[in-house]
Amino acid sequence: MATNSSPRKHREQLIRAARKAMKNAYAPFSHFRVGAALLTSKGEMFVGCNVENSSYGMTNCAERTAIFAAVAKSGPRLIIRAIAVVNDQGVPCSPCGACRQVIYEFGPEATVFFKSSKGWTEAPITELLPEGFRLQ
Ligand code: THU
Repeated sequence: MATNSSPRKHREQLIRAARKAMKNAYAPFSHFRVGAALLTSKGEMFVGCNVENSSYGMTNCAERTAIFAAVAKSGPRLIIRAIAVVNDQGVPCSPCGACRQVIYEFGPEATVFFKSSKGWTEAPITELLPEGFRLQ
């Protein structure tokens, strides 16, 4: 079902799905489990968790796992409307710089739900990533 409704309406649903996905995290090095859930313009939801590696730099964040899963399942015309991020320690955790760029690629108008130092926060990706890079 395509959705034009406010992303805010989906906030709780996204957070719940992100919490469930977080339980699958592979985080033996940081012990910091993260989950993400995104909503597409078609009303579909996809989830991801962080997947770490002995070669630390190969680690994939929860947000990118969710986005790559969405592309793998639904194809390259993905439009992200909203994405939520949670962690198992209840601490502030906004998407890292790399994930902001990847969110922007598929969701230049996406809303991001995350815990900041001020508590649960909703921000457009363009606020988190001004002047995001685009080739097309
Ligand atoms: N991490 C995420 O998955 N998403 C974020 O937004 C922040 C950081 C992961 C990467 C790594 O596995 C762990 O958290 C510690 O940095």
